[in-house]
Amino acid sequence: MSTIYYTASTLDGFLAAADDDISFLDRVPQPSEDTYTPFIERVGAVAMGRATYEFVLRHVDAGNAWPYPQHPVWVFTHRDMLVPVGADARSVRGDVAPVHAEMVTAAQQSGKPDLWIAGGGDLAAQFYDAGLLDELVITVASWTLGTGKPLLPRSLGRPLELMSVRALSTGFAELRYKVPTA
Ligand SMILES: NC(=O)c1ccc[n+]([C@@H]2O[C@H](COP(=O)([O-])OP(=O)(O)OC[C@H]3O[C@@H](n4cnc5c(N)ncnc54)[C@H](OP(=O)(O)O)[C@@H]3O)[C@@H](O)[C@H]2O)c1
Repeated sequence: MSTIYYTASTLDGFLAAADDDISFLDRVPQPSEDTYTPFIERVGAVAMGRATYEFVLRHVDAGNAWPYPQHPVWVFTHRDMLVPVGADARSVRGDVAPVHAEMVTAAQQSGKPDLWIAGGGDLAAQFYDAGLLDELVITVASWTLGTGKPLLPRSLGRPLELMSVRALSTGFAELRYKVPTA
């Protein structure tokens, strides 16, 4: 079982523009292989922050299907939230550790071992701070924004271990890092 911060970022370390726009992902040559499907097939539970959830809701409001039909989702927020029909999503707040324990139980019940921390960066750092993050898989787009929502908003304070680097196209590189044991 691994808890993985899996996301895409610009070359200069942004998940999205300040207005949450992620169209930079479409402005570079697309990956030559599908790395998402083998990743999500191993995921048994998902966590995300409120802004990321609201992005997903806008996607659904635009007429797209709920993208996680087989996954329970924990949304970190201090606000009331709407849940689309058919979605298994619940709001949580505060300490990530008890939520992680719930996610582990759900993943074990699903038979899919991994937990996906979908972002944003501060939420991923909260899991890291709690000693509950095992890996980072960052698909870096050949694009710069100069400002926006950060991949990580602060130093993690120690080096990560680079496990692999793969060129997926001239537009994307996948970097896989392991969080070293303390
Ligand atoms: N490039 C990609 O592949 C990718 C992937 C993921 C996300 N994104 C985008 O990146 C952006 C991320 O936005 P973001 O940096 O603002 O991060 P975010 O984590 O999505 O949202 C931040 C919000 O999450 C809530 N939150 C975080 N930790 C909490 C805790 N422990 N307890 C309660 N609430 C907590 C707070 O919401 P409240 O206001 O409710 O307090 C906080 O303001 C979004 O635009 C998203 O769509 C892009």
